[in-house]
Amino acid sequence: MTSPDPAGAAVSVEGLRLAYGAVQALDGLSFTVPAGRITALLGPNGAGKTSTVEICEGYRRPDSGSVRVWDLPPDSRELRARVGVMLQEGGIYASMRALPMLRHLATFYARPLDVDDLAGRLGLDSVRATYRRMSGGEKQRLALACAVVGRPDLVFLDEPSAGMDPQTRLAAWDLVEQLRADGVTVVLTTHLMDEAERLADEVVIIDHGRVVAAGPTDELTGSGEVLTFTATPGLDLSALRRRLPATSSVLEVPAGVYRVEGEIGPDLLALVTTWCADQGVLPRELSTGRRSLEDVFLDLTGRELRP
Ligand SMILES: Nc1ncnc2c1ncn2[C@@H]1O[C@H](COP(=O)(O)OP(=O)(O)OP(=O)(O)O)[C@@H](O)[C@H]1O
Ligand SMILES: [Mg+2]
Repeated sequence: MTSPDPAGAAVSVEGLRLAYGAVQALDGLSFTVPAGRITALLGPNGAGKTSTVEICEGYRRPDSGSVRVWDLPPDSRELRARVGVMLQEGGIYASMRALPMLRHLATFYARPLDVDDLAGRLGLDSVRATYRRMSGGEKQRLALACAVVGRPDLVFLDEPSAGMDPQTRLAAWDLVEQLRADGVTVVLTTHLMDEAERLADEVVIIDHGRVVAAGPTDELTGSGEVLTFTATPGLDLSALRRRLPATSSVLEVPAGVYRVEGEIGPDLLALVTTWCADQGVLPRELSTGRRSLEDVFLDLTGRELRP
């Protein structure tokens, strides 16, 4: 069996196409997942994230294109013990409780994680309900624990923190970071840019079944800064554009959300608020900060990432 090459690609995806009837869910999607890092597939609802990971997990076949996982076809038997999977829905026996489920799963693996430690980290040690009766967040935590209990080389997490409260979310993020520290390759899907920004070394931005941008997170966001505010839609930006330095730009995307990009200093902030005053509008939710993945998505698609 090939051993994971820490410098190589854990997953290579090439030209995936998949249609569900008339819906072209994947439209020629290609990317690679470097070994030993956290890669986020980031995109809005319906972008094709789950379809993509299900193909990588060997659960679904594309109409065309190819996937290699550790240089093997994704449905290879050899991969089963090495790849952990957290599905967006289901995959766990409805009548089982958390700890027995984890103990049962752990027996299938040569070097499982310590079940009590894992359950404690995710707050599952005090959950007594069967899977069927667990809350949404508890189900998510158990699904995450099931995906990693076998100490996989590679783990696919489909929206790992969906439905979790903020505290549990942090515990889940810590666990994912711990996996990376242990050399595990993590592929996660999310539509939450803060999750991608916090966790991902690499981001693959997906929209309408295509990759619109991919690369290391900090390279995608760059060093630029953004000033954002909301105001009445449709303001005439021409006077503001004339006053802005040549290195800055301003856009209204989507309607009523204004973004000034460039070097954001006190003078530029004063210039923008003065222009607002001249227009007789109060800028609301005004903030300044580094360019985020949300800004990258907006620049590339003209739409907001958040639903
Ligand atoms: N079994 C199916 N039958 C028909 N259409 C489907 C099926 N599964 C997915 N789709 C469609 O394919 C597209 C991609 O779906 P997919 O679940 O891969 O998106 P996603 O990025 O995971 O979205 P989400 O963020 O909502 O989980 C969507 O338009 C969805 O409605
Ligand atoms: Mg999905």
